[in-house]
Amino acid sequence: MKFLLSMHMGKLERLKRKKKKLVVGLMSGTSVDSIDAVLVEISGFGITTKLKQRTFTSHPYPKGFRKYVLHNSLPGTGTVDTISQLNILIAYFFADAVKAVARKGGVALNSVDLIGSHGQTVHHIPDERKLFGKRIRSTLQLGDPSTIATLTGVPTVGNFRTADMALGGQGAPLVSYFDFLMFRSATKDRALLNIGGIANMTLLKKNCPATDIVAFDTGPGNMVIDALMKKLYGKEFDRNGETARSGRILSPVLKKLMAHKYFSHSLPKSTGRELFGTMFVEKIMNFCRGKRKEDILATVTEFTALSIFDQFNRFLKPHLGKRDLDELIVSGGGAMNGMWMDSLRRYFHPAKILLSTDLGVDSDAKEALCFALLANETIHEVPANVPSVTGAYRHTILGEICL
Ligand SMILES: Nc1ncnc2c1ncn2[C@@H]1O[C@H](COP(=O)(O)OP(=O)(O)O)[C@@H](O)[C@H]1O
Ligand SMILES: [Mg+2]
Repeated sequence: MKFLLSMHMGKLERLKRKKKKLVVGLMSGTSVDSIDAVLVEISGFGITTKLKQRTFTSHPYPKGFRKYVLHNSLPGTGTVDTISQLNILIAYFFADAVKAVARKGGVALNSVDLIGSHGQTVHHIPDERKLFGKRIRSTLQLGDPSTIATLTGVPTVGNFRTADMALGGQGAPLVSYFDFLMFRSATKDRALLNIGGIANMTLLKKNCPATDIVAFDTGPGNMVIDALMKKLYGKEFDRNGETARSGRILSPVLKKLMAHKYFSHSLPKSTGRELFGTMFVEKIMNFCRGKRKEDILATVTEFTALSIFDQFNRFLKPHLGKRDLDELIVSGGGAMNGMWMDSLRRYFHPAKILLSTDLGVDSDAKEALCFALLANETIHEVPANVPSVTGAYRHTILGEICL
């Protein structure tokens, strides 16, 4: 036993001492569109971290998989046997994504040093609930990291969110730590906006210390648009926002949508499909009875952009005092929706709207890069939650290491 233990410690120790590590970051967000896999060289850790992206791939899920996961993410329709199977099946898909990105990057699998895997969220209950005398918060990311490590032969860090929750935090957003290391500026007030299924924002005032980071989920990103595209057009998403562009905004509906209780909820906060999934879409369909399909799309697209701006004004702008925001740095699939980008430009004027790619962080790969970086922090035993953001009462090292 002692011998086995020292062998394992040896592996981690060796990894820690490597000057440059080849790390794969894996992310599949609430959109369940594909597995984002990035191959990145990482040197240093903490504030000395340097990233050099080698290659990125968006590894597709099999046809029908998105629907299957969404069906099983709902209380009442998801069953324990399917969840148990999905936890392993997703790990197989993630392992395939590791192999695919290594192949694309021209490196052998055994030269990959480390994997950081977010997993696939199927449920997120960030607010405290009392159960059998214990006050708990919970979140479930499927894609068993131990299975990924075994199938690839590469040490894998996963389940990043639960340690923060055990300390009273929301377990989200975790990307603010990455944002701080990569985007903090000495001269500019910056906000980072990632538009995945859910949208989140991070405010980094010029020269801010880590204790001044403000970040939270602003509400829906692509989630509502994708669901309505599926329902009304049988399509997965609104390519470049073209459907929305052909419609007109239904102002009374927009007003009703903006009254969602999440928007007045104070920080810390995070959200998911529980608040902006099927039930919310049903509600929109009710509000929009008899309306033209493209007008519905135009309205929910505008709603998403407006909700982001509303949340910025309520929770981030006050931290800037009289100053205007200098730059809004956008990433995630939503950055490809032209209608949105136009709305954001209009709302956030005079801030400059940039893609994270403009600042050297591939916009498509950003979240996968984040989990590669977080895995590196874990093995160096660096706490990477941001308590001022998640609401946790102290710092903690995140994740589970599977050798
Ligand atoms: N060309 C495009 N035009 C409009 N929307 C797009 C485009 N490409 C991707 N998207 C949107 O981005 C989503 C995926 O974004 P992503 O950042 O991967 O989200 P998540 O982190 O939730 O998986 C898709 O579901 C789709 O809604
Ligand atoms: Mg995605």
